[in-house]
Amino acid sequence: MIVDVGGIAVHQGHLGAGDQAALVEEVRHVVQAAPLFRPETKRGQKMSVRMTSAGTFGWISDRKGYRYERTHPDGHKWPQIPPLALRVWRDVSGVTRDPESCLVNFYDADAKMGMHQDRDEANFDMPVVSISLGDAALFRVGGSERGGKTQSIWLGSGDVAVMGGAARLNYHGVDRIRPGSSTLLPKGGRINLTLRVVS
Ligand code: SIN
Ligand code: MN
Repeated sequence: MIVDVGGIAVHQGHLGAGDQAALVEEVRHVVQAAPLFRPETKRGQKMSVRMTSAGTFGWISDRKGYRYERTHPDGHKWPQIPPLALRVWRDVSGVTRDPESCLVNFYDADAKMGMHQDRDEANFDMPVVSISLGDAALFRVGGSERGGKTQSIWLGSGDVAVMGGAARLNYHGVDRIRPGSSTLLPKGGRINLTLRVVS
């Protein structure tokens, strides 16, 4: 079922249990090649989410600001985008270009993400596709201005959210995780994969 949340299309249960497990395995390979790190904001605050990336470009945040880079902070190129994530993009994005970046966010029981816009990409006609795996997350969606009205939805394992069209620049964030709500990850937690065309 597709639910509209402030213009963002949430494809609930897009990935079945078998595909979720296979995608987690693919993400494990990404994390082996490009270890998770905890980014800092410009002001030097550590984010609660741990991150890494796959694809031509990875998203980085540090004291120099937000940007895309072709290499992990350890100097290596990012690994390839997981094939199953690419398939999800091709299923739901509605565009013919393939993504150039797959951000991997790992949320432990206490992690969250503040309200923000995704605006480090060159072409806002290209959608953002986000895949949820593991514990459920309370996802908050606003409009294109900070501080406006918001709506919330629980994103469960296998759900896919598409931020495109008028909702491409909508503010969004994760208020909290519901620990223990999924058994997909043996130690719990949540993985979010965010696919984007960057250039
Ligand atoms: C993000 O906006 O980068 C992540 C969203 C999510 O974790 O669902
Ligand atoms: Mn985002």
